[in-house]
Amino acid sequence: MTTPPEPVEGPDPTPPEPVEEPTPPTTPEPVEGPEPVLEVAGLSVAFGRRPPSVSGISFAIAPGERVGLIGESGSGKSVTALAVMGLLPEYARTSGVVWLAGEQILDRPDAVLARLRGNQVSMVFQEPMTALDPTMKVGRQVAEVIGLHRRRAGSGHVRARVLETLGDVGLADPARIAGSYPHQLSGGQRQRVVIAMALVNTPDLVICDEPTTALDVTVQAKVLGLLDRELAAAGAGCLFISHDLAVVSQLCSRVLVMLDGRIVEDAPLDTILTAPEHPYTKGLVATARIDRVTPGERLPTVADFWDETSPEPTPPEPTSPEPTSPEPVEGS
Ligand SMILES: Nc1ncnc2c1ncn2[C@@H]1O[C@H](COP(=O)(O)OP(=O)(O)OP(=O)(O)O)[C@@H](O)[C@H]1O
Ligand SMILES: [Mg+2]
Repeated sequence: MTTPPEPVEGPDPTPPEPVEEPTPPTTPEPVEGPEPVLEVAGLSVAFGRRPPSVSGISFAIAPGERVGLIGESGSGKSVTALAVMGLLPEYARTSGVVWLAGEQILDRPDAVLARLRGNQVSMVFQEPMTALDPTMKVGRQVAEVIGLHRRRAGSGHVRARVLETLGDVGLADPARIAGSYPHQLSGGQRQRVVIAMALVNTPDLVICDEPTTALDVTVQAKVLGLLDRELAAAGAGCLFISHDLAVVSQLCSRVLVMLDGRIVEDAPLDTILTAPEHPYTKGLVATARIDRVTPGERLPTVADFWDETSPEPTPPEPTSPEPTSPEPVEGS
């Protein structure tokens, strides 16, 4: 007697339902100023029959502009980043448009996306081992990134460039680092290597998904300072994902606030800090101001400002601390 086969885990076999979201424009909206390096219009992403993880979001990033994408766990930040990188799994259903360096990339063939990745857009993930091959020495991995996009460079030139690149990101003894396997480096050293790899081909846009969350606080501050310098040197724009407004405020001039797959606020950093509009943003701002809480006092939580169960939330008046003017951000 045969037993019926076990159900196979995996993508939902039922035919995909269309993602019901605003009809995307076929061309990007005209924007003032220089052409954006990234423009997202009406982007929705859904997996299986679940409600969309990302629902009709739109934003643009100008050349060299740094935009923070902030929101609670599961709000759709990483899915947004993966959509922009063309790295969503095949079973993801998408609608809308994503223009990267003038090309529409949603649902484009892998070859097109591979060309754009590294040249036009690169990514720094939370866990540096995601981007590193554990079986290959670090120097060779950096060389591959350089070689991939600069095929004509001779190998001597590439080696010199690798050592220079590793030195530029503050790694002492670049020759030793180049000859090491990733597991022989510390977390901070690995993230420096990944940042070097992300910026070495001077992309127009670097997407950073919680790049310092896995690092301890001291190393985190150094790596943020490094990112700041490297982005400025490359003139690269940045989409910087974090759940931490304090971290975003060190690098970004504009902030997108994401909640349940939607962008609920898009404003300059100063406005977000001094005059947040959405109750959720108000909560984020208040909770980020731990410097103003006296010892023993309860820290406010976002829930004090945003009741997820209520469709039309009325935020309570913050008791303490009062969200007033932003603290000046120390240069990093
Ligand atoms: N490959 C996938 N298959 C199915 N569902 C997914 C997949 N990737 C993400 N999701 C779902 O999409 C939603 C948004 O996830 P996402 O990873 O974008 O959250 P996030 O904002 O990055 O959260 P965090 O701060 O924890 O990283 C979640 O409900 C998640 O379970
Ligand atoms: Mg994430």
